[in-house]
Amino acid sequence: MGIINVTDRDGKKYQLEGRERSSLMEILRQGGLSLEALCGGSCLCATCHVYVDPGWLDKLLSPSESETFTLQDEAEEIQPNSRLSCQIQWHEGLDGIQLSIAPEI
Ligand code: FES
Repeated sequence: MGIINVTDRDGKKYQLEGRERSSLMEILRQGGLSLEALCGGSCLCATCHVYVDPGWLDKLLSPSESETFTLQDEAEEIQPNSRLSCQIQWHEGLDGIQLSIAPEI
């Protein structure tokens, strides 16, 4: 359990409930947010790109080489706090995390 605070591309704010064994991408999509996730979480498309509040970055595992590659190769408007939401697994330590959905590719 726990809460994910999300801001969509229109600036609308949502609170979603975290779920063990789910990625942030899966939780956002099941919460009704517009997140294409075209590759289904295979770290290939970057259509699940989010910006994680900088205060939360050190609570996440570092991005893998393939996540970094896909972000650099496929994503628009990369920021230092860019992450692929399909590569972040929910756990209780993320309760209260804040993120926003990046612009559409
Ligand atoms: S869903 Fe395609 S990279 Fe995350």
